[in-house]
Amino acid sequence: MEQYIIKGGNPLVGEVEISGAKNAALGILAAAVMTDDTVLITNLPDVRDINVMLDAMSEIGVKVERISRHEALITSSSISGVSVSYESIKKIRASYYLLGALLGKYKRAEVPLPGGCNIGSRPIDLHLKGFKALGASVTIRNGAICAEAQHLRGSHIYLDTVSVGATINIMMAAAMADGRTIIENCAREPHVVDVANFLNSMGANIKGAGTDVIRIRGVEHLHSTEYSIIPDQIEAGTFMFAAAATKGDVMVKNVIPKHLEATSAKLMEIGCEVEEFDSSVRVVSTRRLQGTNVKTLPYPGYPTDMQPQIGVALSLATGTSIVTESIFENRFKYLDELARMGGQAKVEGNTAIITGVETLTGARVSAPDLRAGAALVIAGLAAEGITIVDDIRYIQRGYECFDEKLRGLGAEIRQVDSVREAQKYAWRVS
Ligand code: EPZ
Repeated sequence: MEQYIIKGGNPLVGEVEISGAKNAALGILAAAVMTDDTVLITNLPDVRDINVMLDAMSEIGVKVERISRHEALITSSSISGVSVSYESIKKIRASYYLLGALLGKYKRAEVPLPGGCNIGSRPIDLHLKGFKALGASVTIRNGAICAEAQHLRGSHIYLDTVSVGATINIMMAAAMADGRTIIENCAREPHVVDVANFLNSMGANIKGAGTDVIRIRGVEHLHSTEYSIIPDQIEAGTFMFAAAATKGDVMVKNVIPKHLEATSAKLMEIGCEVEEFDSSVRVVSTRRLQGTNVKTLPYPGYPTDMQPQIGVALSLATGTSIVTESIFENRFKYLDELARMGGQAKVEGNTAIITGVETLTGARVSAPDLRAGAALVIAGLAAEGITIVDDIRYIQRGYECFDEKLRGLGAEIRQVDSVREAQKYAWRVS
């Protein structure tokens, strides 16, 4: 079983390069099947979720050529079917983006219902509501969503909840519907904008992405394009909080500072210096962090995917902090693991009351999900002694070369595959 073993106490110092955004790439890869031409996608993050998504696409006959770790040529002219396998959806929820893409292009699609996951039930009712509004018949048969339409017609759709997935999925189906579609109460995340820009580079007509109203004029045909994925603002924010928690000085490179505004604002609020450059951000932490309150909100609010990271930092801050998770119902599990390291928090519903402690001590902990796992690594980097993080497959879903990038900043961290290997490393660094 793969684990990270960490010897805490080193301030992170130096420069780190951020990879392409996983959550933009997942939507863009799905959208690439909407043209029969070959599409070149660059700055793909080399992470498990992307590799699984590419496998899911290959399974339905999409031709995938990985021309490098970060570039792929996608050709969908010889697609063999519009049914995504159960194995694919279990490995990667976001393969449900193929529903909107295949429905838009082929007017039918079949994708198994994605289960919930470790952070909440994660329904997709809004996705299906949008497809029905566009004229598709949507049924659930044998655990799969079957969507089909003689014609997709533009519609005026209002999303009851701000949803990244529903916004992207409906936008893809509407891109090739007849006529005009207006989607209201849209998600405004940078990755929604990236998918819209990608579709427009293939000849779609989408306006307003990044605002809460997206206007789409359907087109009959989408064509080839070359497209580079935006930098991953969540990976960037994770390294920014790692610098904060270890009293470090880190230049986070290849970012879009505007996408990090809520994260940078919170880092300054808890006592860090944050300096913005054209495509990088520097975070310096010279003293103990100060407590604060934070509530997760849809973009441009403070991101839910950055909630565990700030939770760990606040566990080491002065005073008592309140963290409110307004997006998902089960995203505090990392606090139970943090308690093993000396963290003090009390969870009441969607609120965590965190009492800062001077130091955390190393312990064996388990990653409950992707972002919580990354946050526990931050805790290990800041703690005294040795921390072992189990279940790092969650972390590897969304962070490319995480341990290698951290070592580049002076962290004592290794990926080990056995307890014996972990013991050998622990002896060596102690
Ligand atoms: C995307 O998930 C991201 N995943 C998540 O990142 C991220 O946490 C989330 O957006 C919020 O920013 C990808 O992009 C692959 P939502 P998504 O639809 O689209 C409710 C990570 O760490 N909802 O914006 O599934 C839902 O239950 C992952 O990279 C409905 O009720 O999130 C939630 O409470 C974790 N009905 C809220 O909306 C629906 O049909 C926001 O979910 C859809 C969503």
